[in-house]
Amino acid sequence: MSENTLAQAPVHLRQGSSIGQPLTRRDGVLKVTGGAVYAADNHPPGLLHAVLAVSTIARGRVAALDLAAARAHPGVVEVMTPGHKPALAQDPDEKAGPFAFRLDLLQDDRVRYANQSIAVVIAETIEAATEGAALLAPRYEVEPARMDLHDAESFFPAVVGAGTPAAEHHGDVDAGMAAAAVRVEATYDTSAQYHNAMEPHAIVAVWDGDKLRLDTPSQGMAMAQARIAGLFGIPPENIHIRSPFLGGGFGSKGMISGPQVLGIMAAKLVGRPVKLVLRREQMYGPVGHRAPTRQTLRLGADAGGALTAIGHHTKTASSSFDDFFEPASGASHSLYASPAIATSHEGVRLDTGTPLFMRAPGEATGSIALESAIDEMADACGMDPLTFRLKNYAEVEPISGKPFSSKALRQCYEQGAARFGWASRPLAPRMMRDAAGMLVGWGMGTATFPALMFQAKARATLRRDGTGLMEIGAHDMGQGAWTALAQIAADGLGLDIDQVEFRSGTSDLPDGGIAGGSAHTATAGMAVHGAGADVIARLAELATGDERSPLFGAGNAGVVARGGRLSRRDDEARGESYADILDRAGLAGIEGSGGSAANPVAQSAYAMHAHGAVFAEVKVDPDLGQIRVTRLVGAFAAGTIINPRMVRSQYYGGMIWGLSFALLEKAVTDRRSGRIMNADLGEYHVPVNADVPSVEAILVEERDAHVNALGIKGVGEIGITGTAGAIANAVWHATGRRVRQFPITLDRLI
Ligand code: MOS
Repeated sequence: MSENTLAQAPVHLRQGSSIGQPLTRRDGVLKVTGGAVYAADNHPPGLLHAVLAVSTIARGRVAALDLAAARAHPGVVEVMTPGHKPALAQDPDEKAGPFAFRLDLLQDDRVRYANQSIAVVIAETIEAATEGAALLAPRYEVEPARMDLHDAESFFPAVVGAGTPAAEHHGDVDAGMAAAAVRVEATYDTSAQYHNAMEPHAIVAVWDGDKLRLDTPSQGMAMAQARIAGLFGIPPENIHIRSPFLGGGFGSKGMISGPQVLGIMAAKLVGRPVKLVLRREQMYGPVGHRAPTRQTLRLGADAGGALTAIGHHTKTASSSFDDFFEPASGASHSLYASPAIATSHEGVRLDTGTPLFMRAPGEATGSIALESAIDEMADACGMDPLTFRLKNYAEVEPISGKPFSSKALRQCYEQGAARFGWASRPLAPRMMRDAAGMLVGWGMGTATFPALMFQAKARATLRRDGTGLMEIGAHDMGQGAWTALAQIAADGLGLDIDQVEFRSGTSDLPDGGIAGGSAHTATAGMAVHGAGADVIARLAELATGDERSPLFGAGNAGVVARGGRLSRRDDEARGESYADILDRAGLAGIEGSGGSAANPVAQSAYAMHAHGAVFAEVKVDPDLGQIRVTRLVGAFAAGTIINPRMVRSQYYGGMIWGLSFALLEKAVTDRRSGRIMNADLGEYHVPVNADVPSVEAILVEERDAHVNALGIKGVGEIGITGTAGAIANAVWHATGRRVRQFPITLDRLI
């Protein structure tokens, strides 16, 4: 077998492999002891501090800034404005690609949304810069802002999300509705949400001639390099990014944002290192958000409860100057069998920052509407919601007709329902109370998320001392990449994890691809595994061609790598250590490389998705309408599980976000000013521990031979889908009240 075929052969998980081990985070101690260095923790010598001055209006122009007052403030070094800034090599409003969003880099005096940067004050201290920014006291020419999804003029975008078609269909939904015995037509509203990662966007920028060193959190360093290179007219390899840890990203750190680039511009302007950190309220605008939606679901079913039609239409907003539309209707593509399905999107333009990928973009938003409508239909058919879902189980992907590469959703339903105790659920709402008189309700939802793969590269080295080195510029947003990828590296190298040095998180390493789309472990992991297989193949070639080796003549195909030894597949007692092979060859080490990408052949043959089922219990105060989620049980099938402890954590995080979506998160806009009124963690509600008394995640066994050789699907985003709808459905089951505006708040229940 050649080294290439070895690298591509399907992987058989070995006894003793670190894959599948529930290891704790290798970076955990660093994080809890403060030893982990985040971007804003860097203080190079001569560092200055930059503070953004941001607009307090949503639309108009800046008529005046008191530059003299700001410049005169002690400690202020410079004020960067549209008229005083370094030249850029590229117009920030030029659309350089679907992932290169238009940025606000002080190109002119226009204001396109509240919290847009209008100047940057650079000072010796953060206090001086903050005071300088306040002294700018901007005057505006204010224009009326469009802030409401329902007031603005709508149109039909050609693509949504990152470029998927905005409308798709199979069969005839109108005919399916006309032929139906039971119909549900309902409209669901979701609110604008903001990412609110614990770590705000931050950058420390140091120029050295035309070379640039950056400490900044990134979910895609190579993409950031390319974008910055284009803006400043320098080669991408001149830009060295360090992003070892992110305090959360959720999509908002996928592309380099305007404020981060302003930090680089500020450093260039003053010729000194500059640090720029967004304040919490400044993150409500320039770094993305999840746009509000109004979704109309039309479902038809025959007398036996079989769906005859699914229509899913989404109205959503983008900014006035760029095009990201939340692809919410896509949720109806893959979940339920129906002879007719149509999905469509309609857009409006608002005077807000451009919306962006936010954890499970489209799927989360669409799922809460679809799962609510499915629950309404089950009720209209007089059927148990789980029975109804099983009746309409999609054996193939409905629109494409492709078989699933694997789909253990039935097992998710079974195991989740059993653990939750679903069988004793009364069909009718408002039938259960607890000892304290609270209304109790049980609801469920189906979870799904596509299994994606992007491109990545990795480099592996085996050293003469028998240890290994794996290098990849991967990204750890908190999901555990430092650990999971090291486990895959150890497996690929046939070494104990303690024998592997894992280097990651900087842009001078091979490009680890994008940490997004729940695809990072699969993408970076397959590159890592391929690099391991490549270096092992090179080592095997060395040994099998050497008369002095016990492996002489065995051929690559007949060799296994395990525990730092190569041995004959037909006689594992015959072999030798990596160290002996390298030693005899007089080599200090041997290097290999690997890459990964989506497999177009498998993609055209199969539909690839992770699946899950989520069950929720809520208690509602019958007098006050207060809602508590008291139990969440999710069962998910997502192919090979690299680290069950961390995968469970991902599911917990996703399910808690689902709770947040259903009951808490909502950005409230002041329509007069266009400003977000609750732009802080006190008023923008996300769940705390007290909101989540019991959450369980069941890891359902699933083998997938097609998604990639390791059989890995993503686990990061699926937990939100299913959960949000399950909670909404539980609220209905508790109260008999169907709330179609999210988040569901107590005022809608009394
Ligand atoms: Mo995620 S929204 O793909 O970072």
